[in-house]
Amino acid sequence: MTARARSGRPMGNLPGEVTSFVGRRRETVRAVRLMRTARLLTLTGVAGVGKTRLALRVAAQVREAFPHGVWLVELAALTDGNLLPQTLADVLDIRDQLHAPTVGMLADHLADKRLLLVLDNCEHLVDVCAMLVSELLAAPGLQVLATSRHSLGAVGEQLLEVPPLSVPDPDQPMTTRTVARHEAVQLFAERAAVAQPGFALNAGNRATVVRICQRLDGIPLAIELVALRVRAMPVTEILTRLDDYLEFLTTGSLIAVPRLQPLRAAIDWSFALCSPLEQQLWARASVFAGEFDLEAAEAVCSGQGITREDVFDLVAALVDKSVLIRIHDDADTLARYRMLEAIRHYGQEQLASSHHLTAVRLRHRDHYRHLVTRSEQEWLGPNELTWFTRLRREHANLRIALAFCLTQPGQPRVGLEITAALWHYWIRSCTHTEGRYWLDQTLQLDPEPSTHRAKALGVDGWLALMQADMATARSLLEQSRELAHWLGDELALARTTLGFGVAAFNQNDLPNAITLLQDAFALHQALNDPTGVWLALLYLAVTAAGLGDTDRAIAFSEECLALCDTRNAYPSRIYACRGSASVGGCPATSRQPAG
Ligand SMILES: Nc1ncnc2c1ncn2[C@@H]1O[C@H](COP(=O)(O)OP(=O)(O)OP(=O)(O)O)[C@@H](O)[C@H]1O
Ligand SMILES: [Mg+2]
Repeated sequence: MTARARSGRPMGNLPGEVTSFVGRRRETVRAVRLMRTARLLTLTGVAGVGKTRLALRVAAQVREAFPHGVWLVELAALTDGNLLPQTLADVLDIRDQLHAPTVGMLADHLADKRLLLVLDNCEHLVDVCAMLVSELLAAPGLQVLATSRHSLGAVGEQLLEVPPLSVPDPDQPMTTRTVARHEAVQLFAERAAVAQPGFALNAGNRATVVRICQRLDGIPLAIELVALRVRAMPVTEILTRLDDYLEFLTTGSLIAVPRLQPLRAAIDWSFALCSPLEQQLWARASVFAGEFDLEAAEAVCSGQGITREDVFDLVAALVDKSVLIRIHDDADTLARYRMLEAIRHYGQEQLASSHHLTAVRLRHRDHYRHLVTRSEQEWLGPNELTWFTRLRREHANLRIALAFCLTQPGQPRVGLEITAALWHYWIRSCTHTEGRYWLDQTLQLDPEPSTHRAKALGVDGWLALMQADMATARSLLEQSRELAHWLGDELALARTTLGFGVAAFNQNDLPNAITLLQDAFALHQALNDPTGVWLALLYLAVTAAGLGDTDRAIAFSEECLALCDTRNAYPSRIYACRGSASVGGCPATSRQPAG
């Protein structure tokens, strides 16, 4: 029985629509028809033309044909193509518990599934996308719907060019009803009515609206940005100003691709109509990968002329101008925002030409470094689940922060610190492979002895252990131990002792395991490190059980659960219960979870 059959709800992660959808009947029908035979269909077209919206529509229409779900994978914010397989695995919730290539795990997972992957915004990763999709399509029930400004160039790829929205010919006779049949006009009217309640097409404004849509080439994003202006000025003035901008762009020849000009003009114009501080915020917020919350905006976008207190008002003003989109998600306690890709790209250009780029990227990195440090400190506590959810939502931003550390001189040390502090996240989210990917790179770039290095080597070894890659695990733990000795770093020594204990357990050398784990327990306890104590107890319980010493196994289990209770650490308690169950019953499962 599929999960769908069990829950009665279709599987997948397609988001709901937050603004009205206009037209596209013909393209939808064509795409749905093509999907009957095409294993890979790519919707191509210029920036802002509506590829993503159309793909989501089409995916929703064909959803019934895919009992294992329709899964959206957003790639706009992914800069490192090496992480593409991991990104797919995250969305599909595939756990990489063994040391095996992620692509292989994806292939295994998909082999017997009837499933649709929607790969959104592939243009900057076309080659890696083409390669991965070609491999994955060996699964007979898999289909892929991609959006990209260019084709992927994969074998068997079918293409559907997404045209601009239809625009009436302004030189033909028109009535309000005939012009309103055109998609571009409909979109303008709908967005204008949201910005200025009461706005409606009529005999007085329809010719101007048609001219505006024509000037914007029917590109929906451009239309949306410009339609908002009805709040501040009549449509005739909008048209005049737009003409001026387009004239400026043509004579200034800022861009080579003519189709982009209307969108460029609309974005430029939106930018020009922002206050200088709003412009700064737009540029600075473009460092975020996809999404961010208000706390992050305050930390990253303030400074150099913007105070923390300014940020909320500036964000609200940019939401008003459709530069930022507020994400509505009941699960969130903090407001979250995102930018459409073309708008983010424009912001990045502005930031790159300002003097603030490095400072903003540093603040971005430091914000996430701080977040990760807090999450580590609060692990095994009442906020464990909140932290886990938060880090998961920030995964793309964490990647950007880590990539910054790898590319900036003198920064890999901070990269070591962040990747190592994320140990609990790599393990709980089963992203061991990605954790090792970042750890291996940062360790290579910063070979100098340091406590961060000692910890990072240990964490890398621990992740290798979790994937049963024993030879690598032992070698990394050995390096960590040597360095910890040399530095006199007792915490790193305790961790490596624990790691060797787990290694012995994994290799069924239980007498050795119990000795090492007991040592590790004592060391962590002396250092007042509850997470280490918890892990030691967890493994002591299963090792004692393996040795047939049930009484001690139960005693360790109970101590472990009591520790979770004292700290109100609910998810860790579940882990501990699982360990207890494997030693012959979970003594406290019937109790209410603490916290
Ligand atoms: N048919 C439509 N109806 C209503 N709004 C639309 C439609 N098509 C696009 N839009 C709106 O226009 C904007 C741009 O659309 P979208 O993000 O789908 O473009 P895109 O082609 O995917 O852009 P990019 O190349 O930057 O990824 C969005 O705000 C979207 O909601
Ligand atoms: Mg898109």
